[in-house]
Amino acid sequence: MGFEIIELKSFGDKNGSLVPLEANRNVPFDIKRVYYIFGTKSDFVRGKHSHLKLKQYIICVSGSCDFYLDADAKGKKLISLNTPLKAIYIEGNVWREFSNFSKDCVILVLANQYYDVSDYIRNYEEFLECRKI
Ligand code: TYD
Repeated sequence: MGFEIIELKSFGDKNGSLVPLEANRNVPFDIKRVYYIFGTKSDFVRGKHSHLKLKQYIICVSGSCDFYLDADAKGKKLISLNTPLKAIYIEGNVWREFSNFSKDCVILVLANQYYDVSDYIRNYEEFLECRKI
């Protein structure tokens, strides 16, 4: 349970770059779902939830945004994403909020499970309670 920042290897030269993502190689799970988030108003706060079991691999492929992650119920840590060469790997019950979106921000998310509403904790107090168990 927790999160990790991963530096991604890119291939390319002055003409452009390419980053491959492969299940069970540089992405540490079987990928069942991919989604992307774009066009978010800069002051809107997304997320505001944790997941019980889900594993996610999150990359800001364009622009920038700020992630606030709480993995230990001791407070939210800020991680600014502004490069397609960095991923956040999140496993299990980690509270996440993201905000401060640039106009061109596109966030790519890979996940190891299909969408499942029952895997969400949407209340921060409930998340804290859950972490005590
Ligand atoms: P939500 O999880 O609330 O987005 P965020 O945490 O980024 O603010 O999802 C927004 C909407 O999209 C909600 O109606 C559920 C739907 N949704 C899916 O149908 N499939 C998915 O894989 C995800 C992540 C969301």
